Amino acid sequence: MKAANGVPPGLARRLPRHICAAAHRIGRIEDLRDEAERLKITLPASLERAIDKRRREYLAGRISAARALSDLLGTAVAEGDAERLLTGRPEAIAVAADGDDVPLWPDGVVGSISHGAGFGFAAVAAADCYRGLGVDVERVVSADQALRLGPRVLTDRELDLRRGEHCCLTREEMFTLAFSAKESAYKALFPVHRRVLGFSDVELERRDGAKGTKRSGDLRLRATIDRDAGVAATLVGCYAITCDAGGTNGAAACRLWTLVMDGSDGGRP
Ligand SMILES: CC(C)(COP(=O)(O)OP(=O)(O)OC[C@H]1O[C@@H](n2cnc3c(N)ncnc32)[C@H](O)[C@@H]1OP(=O)(O)O)[C@@H](O)C(=O)NCCC(=O)NCCS
Repeated sequence: MKAANGVPPGLARRLPRHICAAAHRIGRIEDLRDEAERLKITLPASLERAIDKRRREYLAGRISAARALSDLLGTAVAEGDAERLLTGRPEAIAVAADGDDVPLWPDGVVGSISHGAGFGFAAVAAADCYRGLGVDVERVVSADQALRLGPRVLTDRELDLRRGEHCCLTREEMFTLAFSAKESAYKALFPVHRRVLGFSDVELERRDGAKGTKRSGDLRLRATIDRDAGVAATLVGCYAITCDAGGTNGAAACRLWTLVMDGSDGGRP
């Protein structure tokens, strides 16, 4: 199995072998700067004066991206395939962004970055395996938030997915899962289609919880990208729920991780 690289084991286990992912805790700015410097990551000028939280999130996201890219390159080198994928120059590891904030990956690579709930999180793959990838990490919302925001984010059909094949999710977990999966789908689709989608444009169609646990599983989503032109996409992915040590199943202590792929699944490990 691939190195977990900070990614929860429940999620790492479900990743197709062509995807490399990494997560990094959003710690102190000094520690993040040191690690970023080691990886040749610099803050863009536009963020030099940003608040501490934004700079820490940015660096944790980029550190995760650099680690995931480095894994991808390492695998490509081992398979004698590096030239096809990346130039192999260390500078190729630093990821800039375009005017829409979409990360600019090295040629031949697709990927996605998220930061939230105390972690940066990124995933990458060769562009000939997928059209796009999307990742997201969120704090599981409170019961009150799930009730209040539910109607804006979840369809009745999605709420039904709480029950699942093997195990039930709480309403809070189901809300957070649908929200996060839709954010991930958006990040996978936007770089290609450049269309702003709403929550009702992306529906979570299926959730397969792993047998005996609700803590991780596979997902399928359907996105309507351009209703008039009949452009739509089916995306697959996976999720994991993790809770801090000492925490209970209480919403505040738990996070939800999603990773979504647009295009072929590239083959399971
Ligand atoms: C892009 C968006 C999904 C980011 O989500 P978020 O929860 O605010 O933030 P996250 O930490 O998970 O992700 C932020 C990262 O996403 C990436 N990103 C930003 N805009 C992006 C886009 N349009 N496409 C792909 N990736 C994008 C960036 O790498 C960003 O991090 P960075 O600025 O440090 O580089 C959100 O801000 C947005 O624009 N939403 C509008 C559309 C939407 O949410 N529709 C409902 C779901 S279909």
